[in-house]
Amino acid sequence: MAQGVLQGKVALITGAGRGIGRAVALAYAREGASLALCSRTKKELAATRKAVAELGAAALVQTCDVSREKDVERFVGRALEKFGRIDVLVNNAGLAHRTAPLVELSPEEWDGVLATNLRGAWLVARAVVPHLVKQQGGSVINVSSWLGRDALTGYGAYGVSKWGLEGLTRYLALEVKRAGVRVNSVSPGYVATKMTSYRGAKPETVVDLFVYLASDASAGLTGQQLDVETWKRDLGIRRR
Ligand SMILES: NC(=O)c1ccc[n+]([C@@H]2O[C@H](COP(=O)([O-])OP(=O)(O)OC[C@H]3O[C@@H](n4cnc5c(N)ncnc54)[C@H](OP(=O)(O)O)[C@@H]3O)[C@@H](O)[C@H]2O)c1
Repeated sequence: MAQGVLQGKVALITGAGRGIGRAVALAYAREGASLALCSRTKKELAATRKAVAELGAAALVQTCDVSREKDVERFVGRALEKFGRIDVLVNNAGLAHRTAPLVELSPEEWDGVLATNLRGAWLVARAVVPHLVKQQGGSVINVSSWLGRDALTGYGAYGVSKWGLEGLTRYLALEVKRAGVRVNSVSPGYVATKMTSYRGAKPETVVDLFVYLASDASAGLTGQQLDVETWKRDLGIRRR
């Protein structure tokens, strides 16, 4: 069997129970990575665990709410215990809110979205990145959205959380660049998941950019906002 491009790497993926996170986990498994996977729903995680095991990947699977510091510390601690290292972090866990103008959202709705999409990504980065710095290398991939680069009526708190995630990407990239740690954001496009009521592109069609960013092929690339549809053109990579 040919060696995958992620052979020997350990990837920690949040929100891997379904949708994009699950598709990225399967793609990474096919490329030879070992995996640490979380979300809040045990049953969905169990299904992802089975699918990655069938591909021969070693995996730690654990429930974890990324907005909770203790959950995050336990999950990352167990991943380090099992694998001894982490090379790739995919900050993918995310949720949306009902479509409504910003001023009509309740504080609970605002806080809920910001807690997972922004605080959660920061908490996981806060737990993982010091290990990447110690290793003098690693790749952080923040799953953003075009709504974090533009605006659309009715999606305000979600959009603000993704604008914040783009800010987190830039700042973190700057702060860890000298340690050889890379931080980039990905806009996955419109993907058929629970979040979009299963309308859009199939999740498995958006994984190539995630594999590229996790692999050594993207060495040196940091602080970038990439888009699943245009990344090859934007990076000047020729289509095969
Ligand atoms: N689908 C699209 O068109 C689209 C477009 C742009 C960006 N995105 C982004 O892509 C990412 C993945 O979304 P998706 O489309 O795959 O949606 P999805 O099918 O709803 O999957 C979201 C995943 O995140 C997990 N999650 C949510 N809140 C969490 C929390 N607090 N702690 C841990 N895990 C949590 C969910 O599991 P539990 O609920 O069980 O925790 C689930 O596994 C999100 O960041 C989303 O904003 C999606």
